[in-house]
Amino acid sequence: MKPIPMTRRPLVAALAAISLLASAGAALAQAPAKLKVGLMLPYTGTFAALGIAIENGFRLYVSENGGKLAGREIEFFKVDDESDPAKATDNVNKLIKRDNVDVLIGTVHSGVAMAKVAKDSGTLLIVPNAGADAVTGPMCAVNIFRSSFSNWQPGYAMGEVVAKKGHKKVVTITWKYAAGDESVRGFKEAFEKGGGKVVKELSLPFPNVEFQSLLTEIAASKPDAVYTFFAGGGAVKFVKDYAAAGLKKSIPLYGAGFLTDGTLDAQGADAEGLLTTLHYADSLGTPRDNAFRLSYAKTFKLQPDVYAVQGYDAGQMLGIGLGAVKGDLSKKAEFAAALQKAKINSPRGPFSISKSNNPVQDIYLRQVTGKENKLIGIASKGLSDPGRGCRL
Ligand code: BEZ
Repeated sequence: MKPIPMTRRPLVAALAAISLLASAGAALAQAPAKLKVGLMLPYTGTFAALGIAIENGFRLYVSENGGKLAGREIEFFKVDDESDPAKATDNVNKLIKRDNVDVLIGTVHSGVAMAKVAKDSGTLLIVPNAGADAVTGPMCAVNIFRSSFSNWQPGYAMGEVVAKKGHKKVVTITWKYAAGDESVRGFKEAFEKGGGKVVKELSLPFPNVEFQSLLTEIAASKPDAVYTFFAGGGAVKFVKDYAAAGLKKSIPLYGAGFLTDGTLDAQGADAEGLLTTLHYADSLGTPRDNAFRLSYAKTFKLQPDVYAVQGYDAGQMLGIGLGAVKGDLSKKAEFAAALQKAKINSPRGPFSISKSNNPVQDIYLRQVTGKENKLIGIASKGLSDPGRGCRL
C-alpha cells in the first residue's frame, strides 16, 4: 500500500493541536483538586429549618468567594442526619468513607456525635451549631472547631440577667439531652451566684412537644420566672402553648435565644416581648451585618437568623485556616494556630477562637419586637467557654 502523502498544512495543524492538548493537560495537572465538603445537617424533623439556614450561610460565603476557598473549588456532599443520635455514626461514616470528604460541616443536635468520629479519623470538623460542652471541653482536638457557641454560654449570660432583675425563684424547662441540660446548668450557675435559686428542673424527651402537664406544674409552683431551652419547631410550639396556658401574663419567660430565632413568623404575637440571650440579634445595624443580611435576603429570599450566621462563619473559618496552610489540610497544627490567632469578621460582630477552638464572643440581650429579636444590650462581653484548652 502506498503511504498517503501528508501536506505541510495539516501537519502544522496537528502539531498545534497536540501542543494545545499538552498545555491543557499541564494546566489540569496544576489545578488543585476540588475540596470535598461534607454537610451533615438535619433537613427533616424539628431542626430542619436550622440545617437549611446553616447550609445557606455556608454556601453564601463560598459563592461570595467565587465558589473557591484558598484557590480550591468546593464540591458538596450532603447527609440528612434527621437529628437522630442513633444514626450519627453511620451518617458521618457515609461522608468520610463513602464520599471521602476532606472537611465535615455539622451538625445541629448536641447528641448527634460527630466529634468522636472526627477525632478518631482526624478529619477536619467545623461544628456550625451543636453546642455540646464536651466538643470544646473533654473532646477537644486539633482538628475540631466550632463556629457557634457552647450550650453553657447563652445560658450563663441569661442567668446573670435574670438574677439582676431581682427574680429569686426560677423553674427551668427543657428537652432532656445535652443541649437542654447544659443550657440549664449554665443558667443555674450564674443565677445562683447572683442570689437566686432554681427550685425545679422540668424536662421531657427530645423532640416531644407535649408540654401540657409540665405547664400545669409550672403554674402550681408559682415561680418568679421560667428559664427555657427549646429550638426550631419545638420552640414554636412551646411559646404558643405557654401563652395559651395563660402563663405569659403571670410568669415571665426567659430563654436561650434559640427560643425565638428563626421562629418568629410562626410564633406571632405569642412571642412579643420575650427576652432572650444569644450571640446574634436582628438589629445589630453594623455595616458588616447589614451587608450580610442584604446579601442573604437577595440570594435566598429569606431573612437570615443565627443559624445562617453560624454557617457563614463556618465558611469563613475554613477559608482562614485553608489560606494559612495553602490548601494543605494535613497541616493541622498550623490550621488551628491560624484560627486561634484570627479575629473573625462575623455578622454577629468580631469574635476570636479559644484554646479549645470555641468562639469567644459577646452574648446579646434581645427582646422580641414584631418579627425581630431586637438588640437591647450586651449581656456578657467577650464570654469564653470554661473549656480547659487543647494542646496543639
Ligand atoms: C444543640 O442540640 O446543641 C442545639 C440545637 C438547636 C439549637 C441550639 C443548640
